[in-house]
Amino acid sequence: MGTGSCLPKREVTNRDLESIVDTSDEWISTRTGIKSRRIAGPGEETSKIAAEASRNALAMAQLTPQEIDLVLVGTMTSEMSMPSCACLVQKELGAVNAFAYDVNAACCGFLYCLDLADAYVRRNPDMKILIVGAENLSARTNWQDRTTCVLWGDGAGAAVVTGTTSDDEGLLGSKLFADGSLYQLLSMDSAKGMNPDLINAGNKGSYIKMEGRDVFKRAVLSMENAVVEVLKQQKMAITDISVVIPHQANVRILNSLMERLSLPPEKVYVNIHKYGNTSAASIPIALDEANQAGMLHRGDIVLFCAFGGGFTWGASIVKW
Ligand code: ACO
Repeated sequence: MGTGSCLPKREVTNRDLESIVDTSDEWISTRTGIKSRRIAGPGEETSKIAAEASRNALAMAQLTPQEIDLVLVGTMTSEMSMPSCACLVQKELGAVNAFAYDVNAACCGFLYCLDLADAYVRRNPDMKILIVGAENLSARTNWQDRTTCVLWGDGAGAAVVTGTTSDDEGLLGSKLFADGSLYQLLSMDSAKGMNPDLINAGNKGSYIKMEGRDVFKRAVLSMENAVVEVLKQQKMAITDISVVIPHQANVRILNSLMERLSLPPEKVYVNIHKYGNTSAASIPIALDEANQAGMLHRGDIVLFCAFGGGFTWGASIVKW
């Protein structure tokens, strides 16, 4: 029914990072496609930018916050562990009739939320559900580690969805996967509390850690497999896809994926040069930009795919 997004105001370019760690614009651009990212400041906590993205989505949907029945937020970097980010968003919006909870599926958060929303509206097609992907990754970044700090950005994206009486529109199908046995390749410890045992145990902070090369290979193969599976489920060919809105992790991951799936680049929406990898926020931000740019037309077949910590991965097909 509507999409929205919100990016923090402060822009940090690759050149800015050159003064923080031993890196270069050339290295970051060629290895990742990233030129710039947004970094959240005071007043731009995860729930705040999530709420702003939601207001924009509600405005497009022409709904009031009171008409929302459920708020789902995909995030792993809310400013609080309890209450959930979704409850904070519900409070910010005044969505007093909604129940609310978070989904932690890392970069797949938005796709997992979309699939959940689909299950709810199949039970009750009148439900109006706000689904949000929002992250403040800069707060959980080791700014002395050049192998990771150049990759991440902050932001939020949202969509309002409801049920349909037709089987031939909306979310046609999803294939979602997880493999917790490989979690050490991409992980982030829980925020350490004030328990003295934890402090004495050498608390080094809770940052995102990643084995980049392993993650790269698995991201490409897993997303390819998920896309093949969801196409098979829908009895579709890759040529049936009008637009691809992928998780924005690395332009080289996307290029490999396009090559392996024979996807023409003009069908794939890419904005990673502006925002870096914003995890659960990346798909809904890209979706909102593509929507605002008039790239999505009624009846278009839109493919989403993502891969992230967990590992989690998946692909979904929506008839717009
Ligand atoms: N600036 C300059 N040099 C750097 C930097 C940097 N920021 N980071 C690493 N290097 C150096 C390394 O130290 C290494 O130097 P050495 O050869 O002297 O040892 C050299 O560059 C090559 O390092 P690699 O890690 O092998 O570089 P690689 O080509 O694999 O690129 C990257 C690293 C960009 C992280 C890549 O592996 C990648 O994109 N992986 C996917 C990770 C990802 O996107 N994860 C996101 C989460 S999951 C998801 O969203 C899909």
